[in-house]
Amino acid sequence: MNDKYTFNVKTERPEEKYESVIDYFKGKRLDEYALSKNMQRIQTRIAARALEILDLQDTNSLILDAGCGPGFASFYLKELGFKVVAFDLIGQFLTYYDLTNINPLVADMVNPPFKARTFDGIISISALQWIYRNIENESMERNFIILIKSFHKVLKFGSKIVFQFYPKSDHVLDKIGEIISRETPFQGGFIIDNPESPKKRRIFLELIKGDEI
Ligand SMILES: C[S@@+](CC[C@H](N)C(=O)[O-])C[C@H]1O[C@@H](n2cnc3c(N)ncnc32)[C@H](O)[C@@H]1O
Repeated sequence: MNDKYTFNVKTERPEEKYESVIDYFKGKRLDEYALSKNMQRIQTRIAARALEILDLQDTNSLILDAGCGPGFASFYLKELGFKVVAFDLIGQFLTYYDLTNINPLVADMVNPPFKARTFDGIISISALQWIYRNIENESMERNFIILIKSFHKVLKFGSKIVFQFYPKSDHVLDKIGEIISRETPFQGGFIIDNPESPKKRRIFLELIKGDEI
């Protein structure tokens, strides 16, 4: 999708150590994440950048926040006046704050329970690596294909998805690009902020659903 760019993250990430996100985000760790002001600040900053890429002109737009966690990105979008629907696999994440205005639901990103052509934009912050991270794993690839096709379906024509996530290496990016080109009509590519700094590097995947022909 983009020009060649190489990186390889050496430190082990949680999604490599834990089979399922449900095993990782529980008990004290769930509290720490949801109640951390620092985490809220970081995730809100990422959401602001994702929104910049989404480039919505109309604040009346309806945005889906997929894998919303405690709702940090959704609060930001709501504050700006957007209409928001937020969902996460872990129901307990939705119990820390008042989420009435962001229509929270418990659902799996692999099977989002929405009608076709519902959203003007979709963002997903720091969640995709839980679904697809290992290019050798066929069941992960199958799930990713279902996810990306479902996301294509629920998006309106002419709208975009912006994923921010933590791939392990450029091989994962290549594979994601290859799967999307093979399985969907999405246009788009990767946007990498601060590519030379492993600490500050942020990877976004921008996908555009073309206009209805
Ligand atoms: C690091 S947290 C990020 C949460 C939130 N987006 C934020 O920016 O604070 C990753 C989130 O992805 C969610 N997640 C992972 N796999 C998911 C799936 N299959 N369906 C829905 N949510 C999922 C987790 O439950 C968790 O809330």
